[in-house]
Amino acid sequence: MVQLFKGFSSKRKPETLQEIERDKVPKHIAVIMDGNGRWARRRGLPRIAGHHAGMKTVKKITMAADELGVEILTLYAFSTENWKRPKDEVDYLMKLPQEFLSLELKELVEKNVRVRMTGWKEGLPDHTLSAVEEAERATSGNTGLILNFALNYGSRKEMIEGMQLMYKDIAAGRLDPDSITENVYDSYLKTSGLPDPDLMIRTSGELRISNFMLWQLAYTELWFTSLYWPEFSKEDFHQAIREYQQRIRRYGGL
Ligand code: FPP
Repeated sequence: MVQLFKGFSSKRKPETLQEIERDKVPKHIAVIMDGNGRWARRRGLPRIAGHHAGMKTVKKITMAADELGVEILTLYAFSTENWKRPKDEVDYLMKLPQEFLSLELKELVEKNVRVRMTGWKEGLPDHTLSAVEEAERATSGNTGLILNFALNYGSRKEMIEGMQLMYKDIAAGRLDPDSITENVYDSYLKTSGLPDPDLMIRTSGELRISNFMLWQLAYTELWFTSLYWPEFSKEDFHQAIREYQQRIRRYGGL
């Protein structure tokens, strides 16, 4: 029971004196940025105000990840299921990449950050797609932190599509079924080319994965906090990394 809740931080803790071990910083951190709506409701604000505040946290955590030398930061910005939300909210969420990039792209370029998107570009409104593609183009030569937006992304759809693509290659004689390994399957997924996350953070107190990187999270360390995403700070991010550094990763071995 105690073990079950290890890593669940219910309250913000003050920054501890314990240093982050620079040589054990997770290479790939994935985040389910949850709780924008509840953060806003608690303040008597519309839900979209929560998403706007969440966008500010995206900036803070991107900079914190960059400072620590994290290689990849994957942020779950919009799921394939989020289209079910009221149109006004979907429209607002689809404007955020554009707003974020118009404010931050210059600094991201200067900081050598590379912007990437994981998800289906088909189905995104033109203005969202052009903002993302412009950022991908402008940062394509950068070699620092990869800021990977999971946008219009859902893991089950990704895995089914991956299988369909493999079957097509098998049918066309391009792939021998006996040669399929984990790495081969990886190459058919939206996250192709990225290592699996080392650490997954979810804010807002929900203890689920919500169709996020189900295959890729097989051996990822999970860290949950009840803080809502707009109030999640650099210090909280550091705390998650410190706790990650205390974990022993056995990958099924001893
Ligand atoms: C979940 O919280 C959050 C989302 C569905 C959207 C996340 C988006 C952002 C944090 C901004 C993204 C910024 C950029 C730059 C793309 P929720 O709305 O489900 O919150 P609730 O569970 O409290 O209702």
